[in-house]
Amino acid sequence: MAIPVLFHNKLSLPVICAPMFLVSSPKLVISACKNGIVGSFPTFNTRTQDLLDSWIEQISTELDAYAKSNPEKPVAPFAVNLVVHPSNTRLEKDRAVVKKHQVPFVITSQGNPAQVVEEVHQWGGIVFHDVIRADHAKKAIAAGVDGIIIVTAGAGGHAGEINPFALVREIREFWDGPLALAGAINDGYGVRAAEILGADFSYMGTRFIATEEAEVEADYKSMLVSSEIKDLIYTDTFTGVKCNFLKPSIARAGVDLESFQAKSHVDLDLGESNAWKDFWSAGHGVSGIKQVLPMKALVQQLKNEYQGAVEMPAFTTKSS
Ligand SMILES: Cc1cc2nc3c(=O)[nH]c(=O)nc-3n(C[C@H](O)[C@H](O)[C@H](O)COP(=O)(O)O)c2cc1C
Repeated sequence: MAIPVLFHNKLSLPVICAPMFLVSSPKLVISACKNGIVGSFPTFNTRTQDLLDSWIEQISTELDAYAKSNPEKPVAPFAVNLVVHPSNTRLEKDRAVVKKHQVPFVITSQGNPAQVVEEVHQWGGIVFHDVIRADHAKKAIAAGVDGIIIVTAGAGGHAGEINPFALVREIREFWDGPLALAGAINDGYGVRAAEILGADFSYMGTRFIATEEAEVEADYKSMLVSSEIKDLIYTDTFTGVKCNFLKPSIARAGVDLESFQAKSHVDLDLGESNAWKDFWSAGHGVSGIKQVLPMKALVQQLKNEYQGAVEMPAFTTKSS
């Protein structure tokens, strides 16, 4: 296990509530951290740097006050997600806000994290970079990141295509630092399984959309409860990058799935529909979502399942 000092005695489970475009808000982040799992959000969820500034201020202030008045409880640090791809025109300005607040934990995606790493290390913060392949992980390690997040097949959002069993073991051949695993981890059994495989953290997105604290349309949450893996489509049609979307959300937006599947993303007429806003994403873990829960109850459920998994007997050739 390679859990950075930042998290020592601050986690109730080795879980990160992953950053989700148009989903993660201060309410979701704060509720995650108060329950001992890392909350995070992408800077893109704030339209302006002023709003980013006020979100970080609100999250820090509320968590500091909560930690002071509940010294016996593990209160997790929060993370901000920066897209470091050269096409991100707001990166410089977002970085300035992150620097102003000396955000303790930064998650970078898509691109070279070297400059962000250098900056965040100046105030003692840490940077995890998300990757979908081992060669990307090697580049991120060369850039000095403190941790790697592996986004594997079946994840919500822009999912990778590689099997988690294969990719964790491949990356563990050259990286013994902090490792988070993403991709359809939906319960405490999955969290324990990820650890056994060699990951230090589970990076879970979809499951947290079906919480009372997630500020998304109620229909999105009910769709998560009623959907199964067969209701997902893995396509680059809407965003140009392969992503898992809920088919019922595509139908709900008035797009005919039959004709949509027959066309390419070049000539598809989406009318007034807007990717991410109208087409809702979910990972393969969606089958395991049976109800919308308050964050506190969900984390307790994850803890119970995790404990159940820890106590499971391992295989033995001796008959009992
Ligand atoms: C609706 C949605 C939006 C997402 N937006 C982002 C994002 O803005 N940045 C990012 O790095 N990952 C994003 N992701 C991916 C998650 O951070 C995480 O890798 C993924 O949800 C893990 O897989 P799971 O949903 O199966 O648990 C998104 C995922 C979902 C479901």
